[in-house]
Amino acid sequence: MERTPAMTSVSSDWEGFYKKDISEKLPFFTKDGRLYDCLFAQQLDRGLLTHLFKTTDNLRRFTRKKEGMNYAGGLLSHARAMLYFVQPSTRTFLSFLNACHILGIKTSEIRDTSTSSEIKGESPEDTVRTFSSYVDMIIMRHPTPGFVEKTAWLMNRTNRPVPIINGGSGKDQHPTQALLDTYTLYRSFNGEMDNKKIVMVGDLKRGRTVRSLTYLMKNYNNISLCFVSPRQFRMEPDILDFLKRHNMPFMETEDFRSVMGEADAIYMTRIQDEHDKSGESKEVDYSPFHFKAEHLKLIKKNCVIMHPLPRRHEIEVAVDEDPRAVFWRQERNGMWARAALISYIFGVDREIAKAN
Ligand code: NCD
Repeated sequence: MERTPAMTSVSSDWEGFYKKDISEKLPFFTKDGRLYDCLFAQQLDRGLLTHLFKTTDNLRRFTRKKEGMNYAGGLLSHARAMLYFVQPSTRTFLSFLNACHILGIKTSEIRDTSTSSEIKGESPEDTVRTFSSYVDMIIMRHPTPGFVEKTAWLMNRTNRPVPIINGGSGKDQHPTQALLDTYTLYRSFNGEMDNKKIVMVGDLKRGRTVRSLTYLMKNYNNISLCFVSPRQFRMEPDILDFLKRHNMPFMETEDFRSVMGEADAIYMTRIQDEHDKSGESKEVDYSPFHFKAEHLKLIKKNCVIMHPLPRRHEIEVAVDEDPRAVFWRQERNGMWARAALISYIFGVDREIAKAN
């Protein structure tokens, strides 16, 4: 990979780099004007999102036939990817794995640090650098916020950089989830993304999906957001400041029922108790933040009900049968949207456009 001027001029001080404003950092994760490392939702602007959604639609369409699937499987059959997922994952892992397979990418995986040389005392930084000796891309999920970014920063300073994709970094960001969530909205709204009211519900403080999704909503006009959460788990001030800076209307409430009827999309989330310090989740009554079958009559006839999954009791299973419940489709969209993103990073998105 050719080093861009931004890459060579960056300081060798990680802590200093980490603290910088996101707008200053983005050039370091870009190559030839294209997104190279996918780390933050703020890297995805409206033009790129629309392009990725069209690529996703095309890929879904032509892979319905065997010839189309075979064609897709030849696009990146020369490439190899590492999936380093050292935090629990079902969907993100499997959808990335299958996205790679659709494009013909060969994959290796580590899902537990106890099976890698980290158990012998190797630093996580050296571990991930090792992957780049063998593969052309690293897709990773890590419990420490900033570690995925640090990996990309480190890798871009070596003479063998490979693209890094963030599959979830602590409580912080989950940009590809936000990509598939927005794609799900785009499909559900027939491409009409402006002028919508999105209601996000649950543990908004510690949920990375709602944080990344909020960033993406800035790309659309006249979106109003409604944050419904227990008092203890309200959306963090950095996100609220972001909304204020961009003049995006929002409200916060604990009264879910009172806002259901206005929503164009309801985005449910589970309580993120793995982040508890001393059992604080047990002190919260989460039941007012559940969507029940009886609520179906209160919502608009074309409102969509979403969830990044996994769910516990936030959505009653009886709701699944309602056509407005799109979370299973949302889950499957993840595989296609991630395949589109990977095709873009490797520059074979043009081949996908031509195939139709
Ligand atoms: C989410 C995650 O890992 O942040 N799941 C996912 O990626 N589909 C949401 C969650 O775990 O609650």
